Amino acid sequence: MDKIKVRKYRDEDEELVKEIFALGISEQVPTSFVHMLKQPLIQVVLMCVFFGLMAVFKSFLLPVLVISMLLVGMRQLVSQSFTKYIDFTLKEDFSRIQESYMEERDSCFWVAESEGRVVALMAYVPSKIYQEFLELKHVSVYRSHRRRGIAKTLCRVAVDFARTKGYQTIVLYTSVVQTDAQKLYEHIGFKKIRQFRRPTLTAKFTNFFLFEYQLKVLDAEALGFDLLQQEGRVDDLKGPRAPGHGGHSNTYAQGRKEAEERVRLQQQHV
Ligand SMILES: CC(C)(COP(=O)(O)OP(=O)(O)OC[C@H]1O[C@@H](n2cnc3c(N)ncnc32)[C@H](O)[C@@H]1OP(=O)(O)O)[C@@H](O)C(=O)NCCC(=O)NCCS
Repeated sequence: MDKIKVRKYRDEDEELVKEIFALGISEQVPTSFVHMLKQPLIQVVLMCVFFGLMAVFKSFLLPVLVISMLLVGMRQLVSQSFTKYIDFTLKEDFSRIQESYMEERDSCFWVAESEGRVVALMAYVPSKIYQEFLELKHVSVYRSHRRRGIAKTLCRVAVDFARTKGYQTIVLYTSVVQTDAQKLYEHIGFKKIRQFRRPTLTAKFTNFFLFEYQLKVLDAEALGFDLLQQEGRVDDLKGPRAPGHGGHSNTYAQGRKEAEERVRLQQQHV
């Protein structure tokens, strides 16, 4: 099997990371459509339309036609909402990776390479909702490179960083239709903390839940980060900061010292 190399994002990765992100999200369209069709409310509405039209027009063909058109329309709506999300995220987030991730405190954007080509991505930032939590974002792997442990390796990098910096919890968000992601996070040890819906009619009507997962960093010790470093699969983790870049400590030793200091200060506040 080809060797996977994990390294920090570089400007020349922009197009590929955008592509991998967009593909990973757009593949949720069919599953979201099926999820929508499974909702009892939607099934009842479709049945009412079908039998209502049949009763009024005494025809079978017309209701079939109308239901088919409704299904096409619903599929289109799902597709449009994902396209909107992708466009928004690419514009707001992926067009400023250097500023938003590489130059920000405790934030970073990572990629995994196979045979010199970027095949996966992952980012982390301090959580805006929870103080002292690190948020994991944008985990995505090219379809052809899945089930080889790449996402798990990328998550390990984030967990290792969190541990080094004294973050005690990692938080992330995924959706009801991202079942592969749910399996990945549960495999790593994340626990589902809560589920919620965005306050939109579509989310309510389609029962489109978002899940919040959290991982206690200490619980993740068993993941074997040292082994990962010995294997040399993670590049740049210990490397010096690029000039002008904030974020990571120069070395693990320094990072750990900072983490210990941080924990000590936290304890003083309790
Ligand atoms: C979710 C995703 C990132 C997983 O990437 P991956 O590199 O295939 O995952 P890994 O190979 O590291 O999987 C590690 C473990 O997670 C679990 N897992 C991952 N994908 C799984 C799947 N499709 N079915 C069952 N278990 C799965 C398994 O336990 C796996 O270990 P195993 O292969 O030894 O059984 C990938 O499927 C993806 O990019 N999906 C589309 C984008 C997406 O939904 N991203 C999540 C955003 S929140």
